Amino acid sequence: MMFGSKAPEFVVLQAQRSDVDRIAALHGENFARGWSGHEIETMLDRPEATVLVIRRVGAPNEPICGFNIYQQSLEEAEILSIAVDTEYRRLGFADRLVRFAISALQGDRVKALFLEVDAKNHAAIGLYDRLGFRKVGERPAYYQGGDEGEAANALVMRLTLD
Ligand SMILES: CC(C)(COP(=O)(O)OP(=O)(O)OC[C@H]1O[C@@H](n2cnc3c(N)ncnc32)[C@H](O)[C@@H]1OP(=O)(O)O)[C@@H](O)C(=O)NCCC(=O)NCCS
Repeated sequence: MMFGSKAPEFVVLQAQRSDVDRIAALHGENFARGWSGHEIETMLDRPEATVLVIRRVGAPNEPICGFNIYQQSLEEAEILSIAVDTEYRRLGFADRLVRFAISALQGDRVKALFLEVDAKNHAAIGLYDRLGFRKVGERPAYYQGGDEGEAANALVMRLTLD
């Protein structure tokens, strides 16, 4: 399904095993603690986890441009990790990756979607705000310090699904 896309030649799909290395690389570029290919592969095998990717239509050999990994347990779900390649940002890809998950979770009658985000990550907070997520908590000094060495707080955000 398309959601007012600025780049309709890209599509959201379930990840394949052949995407694992690229997802791990993209994860490593974007997060202080990377996930190995093996950890991503484990996600593909876990029934409660879903790994979505966005890629160019009809180009299965081209690297994926972004991913969204989430997991569900009964009536709640959580986004574990989401990232879009820097070359493909501000094209609505993260928005599409989250909306795809929301739609699938609504189909499974999941009631709420949670996530944790670095309180200084304005791009991600902007994305989640626009999608209707609201802050429900804050974890002090949750993320280890970057170059400046100062640990960052995590915001816990929630979206009610109905
Ligand atoms: C956060 C991230 C996933 C957004 O991906 P994206 O595909 O560029 O986001 P979208 O194009 O779907 O943006 C949707 C909306 O989010 C907000 N947004 C996204 N990037 C933004 C930025 N750099 N600054 C301000 N708002 C931003 C805007 O409201 C945007 O809508 P607009 O472009 O019409 O203004 C991407 O920047 C990224 O991969 N960052 C590194 C990893 C990361 O921080 N992941 C989130 C961890 S919780």
